[in-house]
Amino acid sequence: MTNTPANEYVQSIIKGFEIDSDLLKKLTSKYIESMDNGLSHSSGGKSHLPMIPTFITKLPNGTEKTDILACDLGGTSFRCLYIKLKGNSKFTTEMKKWEIPSDYLAEEGADLPENAFFDYLANKIVSFVQYHNSNDENKDLLSTKKNFNLGFTFSYPVEQTALNAGNLIRWTKGFEIKSVVGKDIVELLQKSIDNKLNSVDPEKYPFTISCVALCNDTTGTLLSGAYTSTYDSQDIVDPIMSIICGTGFNIAYMEDLASCTKLTEEQVSTIKTKDVTEMCINTESGSFDNELSVLPVTQYDKIVDEESTNPGYHLFEKRISGMFLGEILRLVIVDLIQKEFLLEPKPSKKQYTHKFSLKTEVLSHIEIDDSKDLKQTELYLIESLGLRTTTEQRHYLQQITRAISRRSAYLVSVAISAIIIKSGRLDPKSSKYKYHQELEVCCDGSVVQYYPGYKSMIRHGLSLGSLGHEGERRVHISMALDGSGLGAGLAALTASK
Ligand code: BGC
Repeated sequence: MTNTPANEYVQSIIKGFEIDSDLLKKLTSKYIESMDNGLSHSSGGKSHLPMIPTFITKLPNGTEKTDILACDLGGTSFRCLYIKLKGNSKFTTEMKKWEIPSDYLAEEGADLPENAFFDYLANKIVSFVQYHNSNDENKDLLSTKKNFNLGFTFSYPVEQTALNAGNLIRWTKGFEIKSVVGKDIVELLQKSIDNKLNSVDPEKYPFTISCVALCNDTTGTLLSGAYTSTYDSQDIVDPIMSIICGTGFNIAYMEDLASCTKLTEEQVSTIKTKDVTEMCINTESGSFDNELSVLPVTQYDKIVDEESTNPGYHLFEKRISGMFLGEILRLVIVDLIQKEFLLEPKPSKKQYTHKFSLKTEVLSHIEIDDSKDLKQTELYLIESLGLRTTTEQRHYLQQITRAISRRSAYLVSVAISAIIIKSGRLDPKSSKYKYHQELEVCCDGSVVQYYPGYKSMIRHGLSLGSLGHEGERRVHISMALDGSGLGAGLAALTASK
């Protein structure tokens, strides 16, 4: 490529997104320190990871056999599920899904009273269960079981105080309903469910529903990964953590109970009576290094943060997840237009100025475009942003896209390496070490599932960073699909044990 001012500027942008081996290692040490601090401090602070105890103390092993009810609040949708666990790592689900109306999202929902959104969810849950009641096959089930234990996946930072209680720390990913912050999510949902059931004809709704487990989507993914894992018995593969990398980003893993020093004595004593030694921790990894002591910062990251609904928080997530990768590239394009390295679209084609108008999905096409003169990229850019480009400019944008996605995957590798190192599982000096040990990282989310080459970039990051090649080859990155649905059900199951 020629040494023009445009090329020089583009290369400087790419440099800003680069993470080398030293930085990977530095980030990993900081991540371990931040986990340690989070295990002994309250979850709200900015200087360490939230490390939220989930009160889930045992992973399933695939032999569980029962029917369970679950619901799952995702970034933009809500689902109710009936899950039949077959007891052989297999399961079937019946599911209904609704897109969340915009009245509840972002600024539109900001001033709603605390019950409004939960009334909406409760209506859906109750009508879903009622629908099964009117179905012959399920009638028996309902008439013999008057109460339904419900597992609720709620994928936002919650300070959990019990398996079925937890206060919302803050919203992420687009919700802003202020009246709900600080409140107990299960209490709000249960109240709305009870109100709904009290207002309907008991003959038509002959059941009660008890929300017995609150579960983050990453926690659910770890549970479902453990349930569905089917390695041969001679393989020594343990599920060690779960990762969600989709609209948002997060990790959960099993930690020694003794290390969770922020649990109150009362909490520990109730847990210990159940003869357990571990607890699943929802790390809320999106919040790593909110103080920006080690994380790289570009001018685009600063704008993404400023224009987000939670400025100053979840800064790791804002460099990793699907909600933000497209926006980062859009901001780079805005900058290149301002510097006159790209042609400004006509006034009638101003969508490039709209925040979040460039979807991460478009980056996934640009990433692997090998068409002549990047013709596909040309079409995507015209269609999504009204942007007309030359072949050379498209090559620049492809390089920048690849730098943005590589940084995202490398940052994920930092978190994986840190948790593995902290666990001691690959360290022959640790009591947790097993000869031939291999570790399974159970994943869910659109970026890790669909972004081309993403898993392989994570692996590259693992081997360049603190795990090195030897550690990297012992890590399996597998998909644990629908962790948040199945997982909520499995969490509800732990409540009845
Ligand atoms: C939330 C987490 C969630 C993750 C993945 C983040 O924004 O804070 O609770 O697990 O998104 O959905």
